[in-house]
Amino acid sequence: MVSAKASRGLKICCGVTAIIVAIVAIVFVVLAFTVFKPKNPEITVYPIGLEDIGLDLQGVLNTSAINATVPMVIAINNRNYGSFKFKNTTGFINYRGNVVATVPLQQSLVPARGKLNISTAADFMVDRLIANSTFWADVLTGSVNFSSDATVHGKVKMFNVLKIGASVPSKCDISIFIKSRIVQSICKTKIKL
Ligand SMILES: *[C@@H]1O[C@H](CO)[C@@H](O)[C@H](O)[C@H]1NC(C)=O
Ligand SMILES: *[C@@H]1O[C@H](CO)[C@@H](O)[C@H](O)[C@H]1NC(C)=O
Ligand SMILES: *[C@@H]1O[C@H](CO)[C@@H](O)[C@H](O)[C@H]1NC(C)=O
Ligand SMILES: *[C@@H]1O[C@H](CO)[C@@H](O)[C@H](O)[C@H]1NC(C)=O
Ligand SMILES: *[C@@H]1O[C@H](CO)[C@@H](O)[C@H](O)[C@H]1NC(C)=O
Ligand SMILES: *[C@@H]1O[C@H](CO)[C@@H](O)[C@H](O)[C@H]1NC(C)=O
Repeated sequence: MVSAKASRGLKICCGVTAIIVAIVAIVFVVLAFTVFKPKNPEITVYPIGLEDIGLDLQGVLNTSAINATVPMVIAINNRNYGSFKFKNTTGFINYRGNVVATVPLQQSLVPARGKLNISTAADFMVDRLIANSTFWADVLTGSVNFSSDATVHGKVKMFNVLKIGASVPSKCDISIFIKSRIVQSICKTKIKL
């Protein structure tokens, strides 16, 4: 009688424990695939002062001898629960497949679920750009399209303890509309842990 009761109690206890373990496991799996799932950071590129340069032909011609520097802000939106610290990197801006500018990215810490603006400047090799007759054809049609490539390497830090190496390659399509002086950037990133 007593032993039957005890074994029944044990069964209930084991059952409850098993259910709790199962629930905890499910919660962890769901969290891992939802809230804590690595999300690709969002990047937007804002060149600054293009309004002032005024992308008129004369201005571009006059800077032909020099390397033009275009200041820009790179806005990063980190949607992850981990912060991301990355090392110094160089990004490249291509025009129709040829590298026409380099962009240094200084080492930074992007906070968890936070935004960071990185100020930098693209060093354009103007001579390479204007040597290409397709560039002038594009200017005349009213828009010039560039693409950029940058891969930052660093570490993701979760809850101040867990550190994971990560790299974030990014690719942007940057369109400059000459007349309206609007700059549009569409970036794709992919976080790799
Ligand atoms: C360069 O700019 C100066 C004035 O800023 C102007 O007089 C000159 O015509 C320009 N040169 C060219 C080739 O556009
Ligand atoms: C422009 O920059 C390129 C690459 O950084 C360099 O090779 C070239 O000499 C520079 N030209 C001038 C005129 O400064
Ligand atoms: C990263 O770049 C900054 C400024 O250009 C420099 O001061 C720093 O020493 C660099 N860090 C590394 C690890 O190269
Ligand atoms: C980053 O720069 C963009 C464009 O200038 C601005 O809209 C945004 O508010 C800035 N964000 C932060 C966190 O400074
Ligand atoms: C101009 O751009 C084309 C690609 O559209 C490339 O094949 C060519 O080499 C470029 N010319 C110069 C002088 O860079
Ligand atoms: C540049 O891209 C924009 C938008 O994607 C497009 O409307 C435009 O025709 C392109 N310009 C050139 C010269 O390819």
